[in-house]
Amino acid sequence: MPHDFMPGLAGVPAAKSAISDVDGARGVLEYRGIRVEELCASSSYLETAYLLLFGHLPSRGELSKWTEDVTRHRRVKFTIIDLMKCLPEHGHPMDALQAAVAALGMFYPGRNVKDVENNYWSAVRLVAKLPTIVAAWARLRRGDEAIPPRDDLEFSENFLYMMTESVPPAVWSEVFDDCLILHAEHTMNASTFTGMITASTLADPYTVVASSIGSLKGPLHGGANEEVVQMLKEIGTPGHAREFVVQRLADKRKLMGFGHRVYKVKDPRAVILQSLSVKLFKACGSSPLYDVAVEVERAASEHLDAKGIYPNVDFYSGIIYDKMGIDVDLFTPLFAMARVSGWLAHWLEQLHENKLFRPDQIYSGEHNRSYVPLNERS
Ligand code: ACO
Repeated sequence: MPHDFMPGLAGVPAAKSAISDVDGARGVLEYRGIRVEELCASSSYLETAYLLLFGHLPSRGELSKWTEDVTRHRRVKFTIIDLMKCLPEHGHPMDALQAAVAALGMFYPGRNVKDVENNYWSAVRLVAKLPTIVAAWARLRRGDEAIPPRDDLEFSENFLYMMTESVPPAVWSEVFDDCLILHAEHTMNASTFTGMITASTLADPYTVVASSIGSLKGPLHGGANEEVVQMLKEIGTPGHAREFVVQRLADKRKLMGFGHRVYKVKDPRAVILQSLSVKLFKACGSSPLYDVAVEVERAASEHLDAKGIYPNVDFYSGIIYDKMGIDVDLFTPLFAMARVSGWLAHWLEQLHENKLFRPDQIYSGEHNRSYVPLNERS
C-alpha cells in the first residue's frame, strides 16, 4: 500500500509507548505521567531512572536495592580502562564512550534478551558504568589516572568527584542531578529510535546503547550543546549578541540551541535549566556566558518567536557544565550518561512486543539498465 513520504519521519508514529510524553504546544514533558518540573523538585536521577525503566516510583525497599545495585556496579574492569588508554587522546569523547560501551558487551555477553533477570543487571551496569567511563576518559586523555568511584557518594556527587578528585559543593551535585533528570528521556528522538531499531533485531543492550550513542553525537541532536557554548564564547559579550543573531539569521544559518521538531514554545527543560543556572551562579559566582545567552535569547525572540522557534534543552545546559569546569566536548557524553535510562526503558518496553523494524522506501532510481563494460564507458 503506497504511503506519503514524510522526510525525517516527521509526525509518523514509530511505536506505542507509555514512557514519556511531550505536549509541544503547551511545553509539557512527562515521564510516566509525572511532569519533569515535579521530578526535578522532588526526585533524584537514580529514582527517575527507576521510574522510567520499571514504570512506577520505587517503594523505599526497591529504591534502596536499586541504589545499592547501581552503586556496587560503578567500577569498570581494568581492561576497559586499558582499552581506553589505547584510543587517540585527541579523539572525540563520544567515540571513546561508544567504543567502551561496545566493549562492555564483550564482558557481559548474555545474549538472551528474554532473560528478565539478566536484563535487570544489564540496565544496572549500563546506568552505573557510563559515568565512570566518561569521567575516566576525561582524565586518561590528559595523561592522568582514572579515579575509581566512591561507594559513600551519591550518583551525581560521585561523578563530579571522579572528574575532579574532590567532593563537589552540595549545590553542584543538586544542580547536576537535575540536569541528568532533564536529559533522561524524550519520547521518539533520533538516538532513542536508533536504539530501538538495533533492539528490534534482538541485539544485546550494550549494542543498543552503543548505537544510540553514535546517533546522539550529531550536531543536530545531542551535539548541539557543545556548539551553543562555542557560539556564546564567540559572541563574547552581551553587547555583541544582537548583531551576531541578526547576521547569523541573515546568513541563513541556524542558532544552535534553538528550535525543536516538537516544541513550538520554549522547551520546558530549557526553562528549568535556566533557573538551575541562576541557582548555581548565585551560589558560586556569575557566568559571563549566561549574560550573553540571555541577550541572544532576547534578540532571537524578535525574529524567531513568530516561527515557533525557542531555546531547547541544549541552550542553557552547557553554561552550567562550563561553570563546573567540564570540557565542552564532554557535554554530549553527559547527555548520554543521563539518556541511557531512557534508551534502556524503550528497549525493555519494546521487548514485550518486538517487531523487526523494516520500513519501506520510495524508489526513485532507474530500471532495466544494461551493464556497460569498463572499457566502453566514457
Ligand atoms: N535557528 C534559526 N532558524 C531555525 C532554527 C534555528 N535553530 N531551527 C529551525 N529554524 C528554521 C529553519 O531555518 C527553517 O526555516 P525556513 O522554513 O524559513 O527554511 C524552519 O525553521 C524549519 O527548520 P527545520 O530544520 O526544517 O526544522 P526541524 O523541525 O527539522 O528542526 C532542529 C529541528 C533540527 C532541532 C532545528 O531546529 C535545528 O537544527 N536547531 C539547531 C540545532 C539544535 O539546537 N539541536 C538540538 C535539538 S534538541 C535535541 O536534539 C536534544
